[in-house]
Amino acid sequence: MMKLGKKSQMIRTTFLNCGAYLPENAVTNAALIAKHGLDSSDEWVERRTGIKQRHIAGDNEKTSDLATRAAGEALQASGLTIKDIDAVIVATTTPDLDLPATAVKVQVNLGMNHGFAFDVHAVCSGFIYAITVADNLIKAGQIKRAVVIGAETLSRIVDFTDRSTCFLFGDGAGAVILEGKEGVHNDNRDQGILGSILHSDGRYYDVLKTNEKRFIAMDGKEVFRHAIVNMSSVIDELLEKTGLAESEIDWLVPHQANERIIDNAAKKLKLPEERVVKTISFHANTSAASIPLALCHAVKSGEIQRGQIVLMDAMGAGFTWGAAAVRW
Ligand code: UT7
Repeated sequence: MMKLGKKSQMIRTTFLNCGAYLPENAVTNAALIAKHGLDSSDEWVERRTGIKQRHIAGDNEKTSDLATRAAGEALQASGLTIKDIDAVIVATTTPDLDLPATAVKVQVNLGMNHGFAFDVHAVCSGFIYAITVADNLIKAGQIKRAVVIGAETLSRIVDFTDRSTCFLFGDGAGAVILEGKEGVHNDNRDQGILGSILHSDGRYYDVLKTNEKRFIAMDGKEVFRHAIVNMSSVIDELLEKTGLAESEIDWLVPHQANERIIDNAAKKLKLPEERVVKTISFHANTSAASIPLALCHAVKSGEIQRGQIVLMDAMGAGFTWGAAAVRW
């Protein structure tokens, strides 16, 4: 509510801090080849994708367990407890069960029985969708703080006899704590989410989907082609929408699906390699978890600094795609 005598200020959704969790078991390309007798090589996988290894959840580890670990770390890093949180949003392609939502399991794991929790399913773009939903809930005044998590146990839906897909995916979780604060400048100098763009196009439903055995199946070349085009156009749209110039972008934190797709987006932004966060080599494509994992890696290492502009982009099954610009 605008107060008399006070300039109207817009609410900004700021990132307090983040957390990450990767299951203990890290499996190299060579180990996967040996275990499943695959006709492939470490050299091929790394050259074509940038992937060296992926983490695989233990038999008793569920998506909600990974999500809870990441959320717990994010809360701790933000100096908050679960009492301070109004909503839990989990972006996932691999929920524990068809119902209820994985987010309510995370809610109870965190000891929260107030507020609300729900899942967002937009596959690899899930984290961009989830922070956009949270941003709008915060701006509408419905909540003040949310924990937004991307979490996956993709190893459960990978056919380890299919060399065209089995090297690509991994398990993990990343989380952020979002908080609404009054903007100071009401323009791009403000901290927080400066803008986001979401897209989907169901004409491509069949290009990347689970098959009759509930394993991931895709036309990799077709996905690759669209990823290059869509990542480029959504970045243009986001710059246009926010009024940010390419030269203002400090970091690109892209979805980690293929190093060649990441490099293409970086080239488009004219960003030098050292300004692009790449974590694909050690955790492969973790779908909705890949952006928060990469983000958290760069925040923890001290690379991303407060006040810098971070651009995130993603594309996945659906197709869905999107991007967000944040002043960290
Ligand atoms: O998050 C969004 C979801 N996914 C993506 O973004 C993935 C997008 N697509 C890709 O990343 C790439 O298309 C792949 C990594 C999946 C494949 O790379 P590619 O360079 O497009 O390879 P390709 O499918 O064109 O295959 C080239 C050759 C084929 O052999 P022939 O037909 O040329 O004789 C494949 O059979 O490489 C062969 N091949 C392999 N060889 C050794 C495919 N997989 C393998 C493998 N090891 N693992």
